Formats: sequence, C-alpha cells, structure tokens
Amino acid sequence: MEVTEQTPFQTRVENSFRRGLATYHGAARAQAAGAAQLIDCLTQVVGAPRLFPRVFEFGCGTGHLTEAFLAQYRVTNMWLNDLVADAETIVRAKVSETQVNLQFQAGPVETVLIPKDLDLILSGSTLQWVEDIPGLLNHLADHLAPGGLLVLSTFGEQQFTQLRALGSKSFAPSYTNADQLKHVLPASMVMRRIEQSPHDLYFPTTRDILRHLRDTGVNGRAQAPWSRRKLATFDQTYKTRFACQSGLPLTYDPVFMVAEKI
Ligand SMILES: C[S@@+](CC[C@H](N)C(=O)[O-])C[C@H]1O[C@@H](n2cnc3c(N)ncnc32)[C@H](O)[C@@H]1O
Repeated sequence: MEVTEQTPFQTRVENSFRRGLATYHGAARAQAAGAAQLIDCLTQVVGAPRLFPRVFEFGCGTGHLTEAFLAQYRVTNMWLNDLVADAETIVRAKVSETQVNLQFQAGPVETVLIPKDLDLILSGSTLQWVEDIPGLLNHLADHLAPGGLLVLSTFGEQQFTQLRALGSKSFAPSYTNADQLKHVLPASMVMRRIEQSPHDLYFPTTRDILRHLRDTGVNGRAQAPWSRRKLATFDQTYKTRFACQSGLPLTYDPVFMVAEKI
C-alpha cells in the first residue's frame, strides 16, 4: 500500500478524520442518509441491478456509500481510497460478504494513482474537502471510459450555516451548490441528474453539536481548542440566535449528482 505525499491542510483533515474514525459510522447519520439518496439518484438514471466492472471510490471512510452501492449493484473490481489508511480494515469488514475484488489506496485523491477506463467513479460527502474542485473533476473525467458515470455527493453553501454565522472556521473549504457544480463539470461530461436537499438536524445543547462535529471528523480546520470563555460565548449566542421548539438546529445541505462521460 503506497501513501502519497500530501499538503499540510490534507494532513490536518486526515488527523481529524482519523480521530473521529471509531465514532464516525454511528454519528454520521446525515452522511448515511445521503449515501442512500445518492444511490437512489443513480438508480433513477440507470436502473438496478446492473454490473459495473471497474469502479473507483474516493473518500470511502467507514463505507456508508460503499455498502449502499454494493447492496444494489454488481462490481468486478473496486478500487477504494481514503486519506486515512485505517479506513481500509473497517470498510473491508463492511463488505466482506460481497464477491468484489477490492483494493485500497491511502492518500489524497488528487495525487493517488487512479485506474483508467473506469465504468463508474463514486464518492459520498468528500468533495467539499478538495481545494481545487474543477481540477479534480477534470482529472477524474480523464479516467472514465466513454459512457462512464461520475456519481458524487457533496455539500452546498448552506452547510453548517449557523456555525459560519458565529465565525467558526471548523468547516470544509469547498462547499458548492448544485448550480455551481453544473458550471465546473468538464466539457467531456453531461449532467444526468442533480439535486440539493437542505435540512436541519436538531440537538439538545451546543455541547451535543460540538460532540457531533468531533465524532464525524468535521473539525479539520479548527486551529486550536477553545477556551472556557469562548465556549460559554458560543453557547449563549447559538441559543439566542437559533434555538427553536425542536431544539438547536444544525443545517446540512447535501448536493447529489450523476454525470456521464460522452
Ligand atoms: C465525511 S467522510 C465521508 C465518508 C463516506 N464516503 C461516507 O459516505 O460516509 C469524508 C471522508 O473523506 C476523506 N477525505 C477527505 N479529504 C480527502 C482527500 N483529499 N482524498 C481522499 N479522501 C479524503 C476523509 O478522510 C473522510 O473519510
């Protein structure tokens, strides 16, 4: 297994997700629901079941999307990738019942070796961590066979809107709305389906929100632990500005797309 070079930012993101790896699968309910919705989008476009001989998935994490995909579709060879090398053991255990020939490569998707002539490239809730989205989409398109599909979910600009309103930096660098994704799609690809479904999760306290962010590895950009005073101010301001009858809202803004190489 080869680990490719990465930037200081990618190392921070890796450390953050590695810390959250043990808790991620259970805590990431929005990402789990998103994996099911993305597979649903794919099924609307191509139907199921179907065989995809060569599939690459980046940012596979603990395998929410890998599992949902392999439950519907047959695959001969699947190459998995994540920044966090420890994800391999977890995701392999999740799909051990399937017949697929699995390989895993750790490192940034921007620089790992991606196989050519792929039938499908898959990724759930990861693109927002990529700093150069047009560059990556072009690079991915080069690895698809004609008629191959790019099946991705990411998050739009309303993601964690409350945290941003309060000046938090604990979020990913590249939140992208559906209409912006359409504009950065390479010329060699056509959009077959795209949807954006913002919704709120509710938490009893701000401590639960911060725990949720830590458990899902989302605080990759946080520079330093917060002081007691900063925590108290965050708590008070969040409650004053956003509390409602259902509790404290935290907005998720997932975007789902299926595009085809022409
Ligand atoms: C929010 S998790 C999503 C995991 C899984 N796809 C799911 O649907 O639950 C994002 C994953 O992307 C990985 N990741 C972030 N930046 C990456 C990059 N540049 N290259 C590869 N993986 C990356 C993280 O390590 C993490 O496991």
